[in-house]
Amino acid sequence: MAISQMLTIAAIATGAVAQLKTCSNNGTFSCQSSSKSPTCCFNYPGGALLQTQFWDTDPATGPDDSWTIHGLWPDNCDGTYQSSCDSSRQYTNITEILKSQDRSDLVTYMDKYWVSNSGSSESFWEHEWGKHGTCINTIKPSCYSDYSPQEEVGDFFQKVVDLFKTLDTYKALESAGITPDESKTYELSDIQSALAKIHGNATPYLGCDSDSLSEVWYFFNVAGNAIDGQYKATDTLSKTSCPSSGIKYLPKSSSN
Ligand SMILES: *[C@@H]1O[C@H](CO)[C@@H](O)[C@H](O)[C@H]1NC(C)=O
Ligand SMILES: *[C@@H]1O[C@H](CO)[C@@H](O)[C@H](O)[C@H]1NC(C)=O
Repeated sequence: MAISQMLTIAAIATGAVAQLKTCSNNGTFSCQSSSKSPTCCFNYPGGALLQTQFWDTDPATGPDDSWTIHGLWPDNCDGTYQSSCDSSRQYTNITEILKSQDRSDLVTYMDKYWVSNSGSSESFWEHEWGKHGTCINTIKPSCYSDYSPQEEVGDFFQKVVDLFKTLDTYKALESAGITPDESKTYELSDIQSALAKIHGNATPYLGCDSDSLSEVWYFFNVAGNAIDGQYKATDTLSKTSCPSSGIKYLPKSSSN
């Protein structure tokens, strides 16, 4: 066996070689501090991080009893945002990157819950990473010690999935008696309060497509970096596109 192969195996055996530098969490939350320095421990200017989800019914995507992942977006604390921040890290091999980092289970999960309604999942993931992920300043390569290329890509996708798992929109709505039903309509305030219960009592953004529920964005401020930092739920910075009543929540199966 060649030395280089042995070294590769040794690196895999010891786990991820790169690590984000530790942030002493001093409770300084992004968007809530006057600090304007983008450090490896302070998300700026994209201080609001949004875990965004879809409810796609036409065509339907993902399991009938789950919302699906859209992404994790840094927003400038005011509803505006930067996009496509580093063309040199706009990768076209996200699946390969994740597999090479021993994250095959993550890919399997993403294949089920992070799906596109119009193209391949891989191209959707490339778009989300390139447009939004590259704008998260606290996961830049320079924020790692012993950086190994694309380590931040794996950290990003794992974090989005971890956050998504804490925000089960379908279950939260179901617990409030809000279930997909072609013949029912719901009030905006009822949907908002059902979802606030899984989001630290903060109000998420709700998106509608012709009065039918189609999107939710959960806003957070973060102390520390976007991977290991503390996430605090905050109210939406964007105005809902849903009407205040008469909102439809269509079953996914109806479009088949
Ligand atoms: C806390 O950390 C942030 C980010 O590194 C820094 O900007 C801020 O000055 C620190 N605040 C205190 C009180 O140490
Ligand atoms: C992914 O693509 C980048 C850029 O072309 C390349 O440097 C890297 O080696 C590729 N990674 C894998 C695992 O194929």
